[in-house]
Amino acid sequence: MSFQKINMKLQNSTNQNTDLICQIDKLRIPKHVAIIMDGNGRWGIKRGLTRSYGHNQGVFILKNIIKLAKKIGVEVLTVYAFSTENWSRPQGEVKFLLNLFEKVLNKETVEINKECIKLNFIGDFSPFPENLKQIINSSQALTKDNNEFTLNVCANYGSRQELINAAKNLAKRSVSGEIKPEQINEGLFESELLTKEFKDPDLLIRTSGEIRLSNFLLWQLAYSEIYITDVMWPEFNDDEFLKAIINYQSRNRRFGGIESLSNKSFKNSFYSS
Ligand code: FPP
Repeated sequence: MSFQKINMKLQNSTNQNTDLICQIDKLRIPKHVAIIMDGNGRWGIKRGLTRSYGHNQGVFILKNIIKLAKKIGVEVLTVYAFSTENWSRPQGEVKFLLNLFEKVLNKETVEINKECIKLNFIGDFSPFPENLKQIINSSQALTKDNNEFTLNVCANYGSRQELINAAKNLAKRSVSGEIKPEQINEGLFESELLTKEFKDPDLLIRTSGEIRLSNFLLWQLAYSEIYITDVMWPEFNDDEFLKAIINYQSRNRRFGGIESLSNKSFKNSFYSS
């Protein structure tokens, strides 16, 4: 089968109609969804194609998921596009990925803006090629006032580095006398994170069956619901996203408390005998 035919087949498969949408509780949509888009490379190779082919298909899937997430009422989508560890991949793949980001931004920024989506990059993009840095800056500037939906793209992002930088900044502020060490609390710590404008993700989705966080949003995911699927990112279609949302809606989020047990039943179960 030719590349084009495979692509057509997959593109169609992402647009299956979804009875699942009727099962969604519109009042309990996760406001912030984070995604580790994993499995592009393996998916490409498994089909006798290339890892790059998998990344290209990954972009197509991302576009669909952005549209669907916005449509059902998600407000913020944060995706892991390039980690600080991804520099250790073969140079050719790193180059391909950075070129791909540039191409996608050049091609899609106008459309993203029309859709009233705010595009925000999270990470240290100083080592990126000049052209990529420029398009990142201009696409952020163009979309900065959009308020219907935010797409955060984590690029050259690593959570441990983010936490170290936050600790360094708080130490500097403390040495300069601006704050006292005793004042450091969760709020102040969060004010030094790259995600300071956003509430923590309600839901983390990871594709390709890997069960780890891979240095992604370690602080921010403390109380997020985690959904792992074996589906590879290039095959993560609309139905797969809706399944993740429905699964999230079946969870009882207690944030360390015991919401399902009222004070009364607590008394009954522990003190009445
Ligand atoms: C993980 O698959 C995927 C990536 C490292 C890149 C994801 C990037 C995109 C989908 C493009 C997004 C573009 C923009 C502009 C936001 P992997 O290569 O780790 O797959 P593997 O686990 O099978 O090796």
